[in-house]
Amino acid sequence: MKTLFTHISKLMGIRSELKFGAEMNSIDAIENAYLLVENGRVVGLGSMRELPQFDREISLENKEVIPGFVDSHTHTVFAAPREEEFVMRIKGLSYEAIAEAGGGILNSARKLRAASEDDLFEQAKSRVAYMIEQGTTTLEIKSGYGLSVDSELKMLRVIKRLKEAFPITIRATFLGAHAFPEAFQQRKDDYVQLVVKDMLPAIVADDLADHVDVFCENGFFTESQAEVVIKAAKRYGLPAKIHGNQLGYSGGVQVAVKNECWSVDHLEFTREEEWDLLTDSFKQSFGGTLPVALPGVSYFLGLPYAQAREMIEKGLPLVLATDFNPGSSPINSLQLVMSLACTQMKLTPEEAFHAITVNAAAALRMNQEVGSLSPGSKADFLVMKSDNSLAKIPYFMGQNQIDKVFVGGELYTQH
Ligand code: NIG
Ligand code: FE
Repeated sequence: MKTLFTHISKLMGIRSELKFGAEMNSIDAIENAYLLVENGRVVGLGSMRELPQFDREISLENKEVIPGFVDSHTHTVFAAPREEEFVMRIKGLSYEAIAEAGGGILNSARKLRAASEDDLFEQAKSRVAYMIEQGTTTLEIKSGYGLSVDSELKMLRVIKRLKEAFPITIRATFLGAHAFPEAFQQRKDDYVQLVVKDMLPAIVADDLADHVDVFCENGFFTESQAEVVIKAAKRYGLPAKIHGNQLGYSGGVQVAVKNECWSVDHLEFTREEEWDLLTDSFKQSFGGTLPVALPGVSYFLGLPYAQAREMIEKGLPLVLATDFNPGSSPINSLQLVMSLACTQMKLTPEEAFHAITVNAAAALRMNQEVGSLSPGSKADFLVMKSDNSLAKIPYFMGQNQIDKVFVGGELYTQH
């Protein structure tokens, strides 16, 4: 059945190509538009002056329509929030000092091991439902609070259940190399071997991950340890992403580009040298390593913001994501991320919009599928509350500017 969505005052984000640098500031749009959907996919779009054949019509009442958002980096499955660490930081302790004292990721790992799979699933389910209300229709979720074979598998099974429970697109990332468990503090390479020899094969056998990730940072995983994990994953056909340069110059960008990672995320610390490497990566056949900035982390931890403005000036295809997690970014709205990007990183609303739609989809190598409303893509779209909506999202910070969310052409309602 063909459904024709009519009377769209402005249909935005209609091209699936990655937007580089200055291209990020210009919006592809049709005014007074229709969108034709069949079997959950976009099969046509154009001006109301020339309508195609259809079976049923749904009027969108002169509202603006944009593609559903893509959150390419989250840690949505966790057992408990960490507000006590938040208060410790207010009183002056650093994120690193809290982590060294057994807090941080290891705190979340202890709680996750004690939690039941059902409890983790129910908690994550309500977080995902909130994210959809906030416009996220494609979501990447990482493991990495398990840090043992059983607990990593438990986390990834929860992500698999979320994939089945929601109509949105969810991708799972195995982040066993997130931190060293207490028992491995003195023999870190042994933990890397556990990740590649025990965890990876078990995860692949149950088809529980779409990518791997490594926290490549001083005090966490070194460049060569990251490389061991990425290469092992590659042998199983799993692509990689990297957490890099969050707390300093970790070599994360260099490892990511050398090993053809799809993205390098964080980048609070970068310089010319790293920007050039990323730029060159787009000339290579693997399609390039996308830079993903996470302004929620800078806001929440009081860190410098990634130099997103400079990266765009350099011609890079910037991506933004929430990094939603209980330690460094309890922010799960891409609308709020857009606001932080505009006010703190000086991105225009148009640039921030492309960074959470088509470019974010490319960080998951999914821009033919999601992140735009172009023929063939999934009909995931947002009907906005008011006109000039791209600027209103960052302007009304923290206020939901979305009237309705459609996933695969169907109105999404909470269940
Ligand atoms: O992306 N950087 C590493 N991992 C998370 C933080 C995890 C935590 O503190 O729980 C991040 O910021
Ligand atoms: Fe993260």
